[in-house]
Amino acid sequence: MVDGSDDHIVVLDKLTYAANPESLADLPSDRVELVVGDVADAALVDKLVKRADLVVHFAAESHNDRSLAYPEPFVHTNLVGTFVLLEAVRNHDARFHGVSTDEVYGSIALDSSERFVEASPLNPASPYSSTKAGSDLLVLAWIRSFGVRATISRSSNIYGPYQHVEKFIPRQITNVLAGHRPRVYGDGSHVRTWLHADDHSSAIRTILESDQAHGTYLIGSDCQVSNLDVVRSILRLLGSPEDAYDLVPDRPAHDTKYSMDTSRIRSELGWKPQHTDFYHGLASTISWYKGHHSWWGPSKASTEQFYAITAQ
Ligand code: DAU
Repeated sequence: MVDGSDDHIVVLDKLTYAANPESLADLPSDRVELVVGDVADAALVDKLVKRADLVVHFAAESHNDRSLAYPEPFVHTNLVGTFVLLEAVRNHDARFHGVSTDEVYGSIALDSSERFVEASPLNPASPYSSTKAGSDLLVLAWIRSFGVRATISRSSNIYGPYQHVEKFIPRQITNVLAGHRPRVYGDGSHVRTWLHADDHSSAIRTILESDQAHGTYLIGSDCQVSNLDVVRSILRLLGSPEDAYDLVPDRPAHDTKYSMDTSRIRSELGWKPQHTDFYHGLASTISWYKGHHSWWGPSKASTEQFYAITAQ
């Protein structure tokens, strides 16, 4: 890992529309190497994994709205890509960690206090979440069938700096900064649990640094907020009227609420989130986007062109 160690890190990235190599600019170039390529390219992956002790599988097509419009890349990257990585770690006896999502469990009713646990049944709704569930099942099968040393983490929604402007929070922040009204799907009652990106990273690092880690870990904060609350907060923090948003057509198969019991990683590995005040984290995220127009500006127009197709 980059901080506090002399590990050498190879980042394999296809540099699709969602990537921005500038995000690596502040990292030490002698220890972080970018290889541009496809995670489903078996020859390339085998060559890279041959010289690795540990593979952390962050590579995914990750946006639900795009999966509804263009499902094929989700099957390719999230299923074939995971298969190719698992075969490589099996061949070279490397440790593997798969980064997954709470969405594999499907939706919870708004008035329910249910919380998913690691062993809850998988019930994904979208092409995105179904390919992530399939990816997880491949990992679990490679552990059982071939003894691959692997762990999985399933995280709640993430926010913070460097997030692509197609996602909810950066989309609405940059809409307001660009003089456009935020756009909320359906009636805005949908609930998400928001975890700061730094806390997601620290959770994964905790799993990787533990010799005892095994199986699946759920990662999340205690910040459960409705989409309307998020949008009103963004507007307030940017000095706009809180009702200056538009309700737009809902996403098909839109999951109402996600909620997970994250006590396993907290009690067994001692992890806990540091960013416990969501509104404070949101304010600093807004400051980041205000100060980094050159990072997000180039992808804003094409993102909104995509949303125009679905009237969202
Ligand atoms: O729960 C973890 C998942 O969180 C990750 O696995 C996904 O990769 C990540 O994209 C995210 O999925 P969501 O579908 O929850 O995130 P998204 O940012 O697309 O939307 C969050 C909520 O906001 C959701 O209820 C849909 C709504 N929304 C989204 C957008 C982009 C809006 O109301 N308006 C919008 O413009």
